[in-house]
Amino acid sequence: MSQNILDKNPLIYSCIPRITAMCGDVMFLPNDSDTIVMNGRKFADEYAERVLKPRCIGFKGKYGRLPKLVTILVGENPASESYLRIKSRFFSTLCLDSEVLRLSKDINERDLLNTINSLNNNSNVDGILVQLPLPRHIDADKVIESISIERDVEGLSPGNVHAWAKAIPNLVPATALGVLALLKYYEISLEGKHTVIVGRSMIVGKPVLHLLLKENCTVTICHSRTKQLGRHTRQADILIAAVGKAHLITADMVKKGAVVVDVGVNFLDGKLVGDVDFKTVKSKTSYISPVPGGSGPATVSMLAGNLLLAAELQKTGDNKEQKECLRDYYKNYTIVTDTNYC
Ligand SMILES: NC(=O)c1ccc[n+]([C@@H]2O[C@H](COP(=O)([O-])OP(=O)(O)OC[C@H]3O[C@@H](n4cnc5c(N)ncnc54)[C@H](OP(=O)(O)O)[C@@H]3O)[C@@H](O)[C@H]2O)c1
Repeated sequence: MSQNILDKNPLIYSCIPRITAMCGDVMFLPNDSDTIVMNGRKFADEYAERVLKPRCIGFKGKYGRLPKLVTILVGENPASESYLRIKSRFFSTLCLDSEVLRLSKDINERDLLNTINSLNNNSNVDGILVQLPLPRHIDADKVIESISIERDVEGLSPGNVHAWAKAIPNLVPATALGVLALLKYYEISLEGKHTVIVGRSMIVGKPVLHLLLKENCTVTICHSRTKQLGRHTRQADILIAAVGKAHLITADMVKKGAVVVDVGVNFLDGKLVGDVDFKTVKSKTSYISPVPGGSGPATVSMLAGNLLLAAELQKTGDNKEQKECLRDYYKNYTIVTDTNYC
């Protein structure tokens, strides 16, 4: 049922010599100037046209309204604002209904929990996302646990964490799915590859670890207490940076020919930059994702996919077979063009 994404994609055809280089056990870089910059926007556009839009239209036709996400933003945070801007722009091109609930940084925990509770019971809301980080006086775990499992489009509630840790497809953190989506879009072979993830958060590092293990990668995970970070990152066939420190990853920390996915969102001298020093690292890589334009748009596509999955699952009632079919349909982060599937 799954249609290969390469079938109508000239960009990818132009990458075929490089893909061949990646397919064997040894990765090599024939020529530095051949580095492929992974285009997250192109992936997002294609995924929107071929999967998300038709699915949205189908949903509206069946249920008379659009799938709806409510994002809760407490206080202000530049990285969250940037993410929300990208998300709103993308959602507005789809027929997805997205509302941002801006709450004061001084809101108390009980009021926030009550707000979530009323959204949990609103049959016109399909997905709820609480933008992290939250102010210190609020227990983020308690807040996330209060989101009902079926509306938890960030895949962070205990039931969803249990599912992705056991490789059961359901709602998985969108940023982690976005990393996998980029790797799959560029047909980077994963099995047996040594992947090093820098960052062990619940929204990126840990779910990426589980998704990559499922793809039979060998995975190392690094964090702030890792000694001699470069010694680990230099081993990576595939390096994923998810830290939040501008230009932490420099050229001397990257193996020649490696694939580098930069998840970081940082502001440096008023400019949006990643965790990877793109300018100097690029020439050492076979593939590299830029910031902006790499992991960000892929994440937003996956969030939209999660919202559709959540909305469609909630409409299936007790139909287990249909639920399983839907989870299968959305689990591959790749472009499945049969929009009548399930
Ligand atoms: N592209 C997107 O769509 C998207 C989405 C979400 C987040 N982001 C961005 O991704 C980055 C990571 O987000 P997050 O929520 O995962 O951040 P987080 O919760 O702050 O986690 C950061 C991780 O980096 C580790 N770390 C910190 N300093 C380090 C160092 N010097 N060396 C090695 N590891 C270090 C931390 O280690 P410890 O565990 O030891 O503290 C932690 O595991 C941020 O820039 C965020 O804005 C991007």
